[in-house]
Amino acid sequence: MELREAIGRRRSIRFMRPYRPVEPEKIQRMLEAARLASHWGNVSTLRAVVVFRDTAPDDVREALTAPVAGFQIRAAPVTIVWYLDTDAIDEQSDRLRELLRAGALGVGENKEKALEEQLLPIFEGIQDLLKAPGLSEVDCGQGIAQATLVAFEQGLGTCCLSGPNMDEIRQRLGLPDACRVILLQTVGYPAESPDAGGQRPRLPFGDLFHMNGYGKPFPRSEEVVAELQRDNMIQEQAPAEWREAELEWLQKALDIKGAGLI
Ligand SMILES: Cc1cc2nc3c(=O)[nH]c(=O)nc-3n(C[C@H](O)[C@H](O)[C@H](O)COP(=O)(O)O)c2cc1C
Repeated sequence: MELREAIGRRRSIRFMRPYRPVEPEKIQRMLEAARLASHWGNVSTLRAVVVFRDTAPDDVREALTAPVAGFQIRAAPVTIVWYLDTDAIDEQSDRLRELLRAGALGVGENKEKALEEQLLPIFEGIQDLLKAPGLSEVDCGQGIAQATLVAFEQGLGTCCLSGPNMDEIRQRLGLPDACRVILLQTVGYPAESPDAGGQRPRLPFGDLFHMNGYGKPFPRSEEVVAELQRDNMIQEQAPAEWREAELEWLQKALDIKGAGLI
């Protein structure tokens, strides 16, 4: 599948086939994609613990049971606990030196001296800021997004889950204090139809993006929109007319108690 179509077809999948395990090599491909994503200073703060529901020890599985979307975690054969390790930022100088040696950073004979005397002191001076929530979360998001597309490419569905108890999960999994759990991502074979009822709503393009200054909407070319529709990146809006019937069927098939929200 082409990248454009993959972006358009990807949906958050909340209803998984609970009986169908996910092959570890498919998860590995997701992790490989996450590892290749860009990161400021090349420090790679993104880490993960992958929990296979059927083989993980009880205490590890139970560490995941409290989030808001508990029913999704119970049904998913795999949950990836994505976390950010701020200790990686202690190594930022070495990562920048590696970048320079790799030919990614700097030009000319004096680049090593300039790195040591000019750039590294700047980074070292803002290390605490770089460890605070913000920039590194952006990088983790890029890695998770790449992993999500690779999951989708392999016929899997995923849903990102967050909640008020991320630090409790960190503690129960024994992750060091320097780590922050970013989110949990369920992974499995979708029980719902592949397009899961169509493109979920988004705010209007013109409300989101500006050109040459705040308040001047980026002009949206209808020609480009038509091209992306042809390429299946922009798809039919949800809900498809059969979606409520599908949800009713999923509720029965998966024996979901209540409204399926928590
Ligand atoms: C960082 C993040 C956290 C999310 N947390 C939850 C969550 O806790 N529970 C849930 O059901 N969906 C969660 N979602 C999924 C969003 O609700 C979903 O992206 C939105 O409904 C749009 O649907 P789509 O992803 O299919 O386009 C999360 C998504 C992201 C990116």
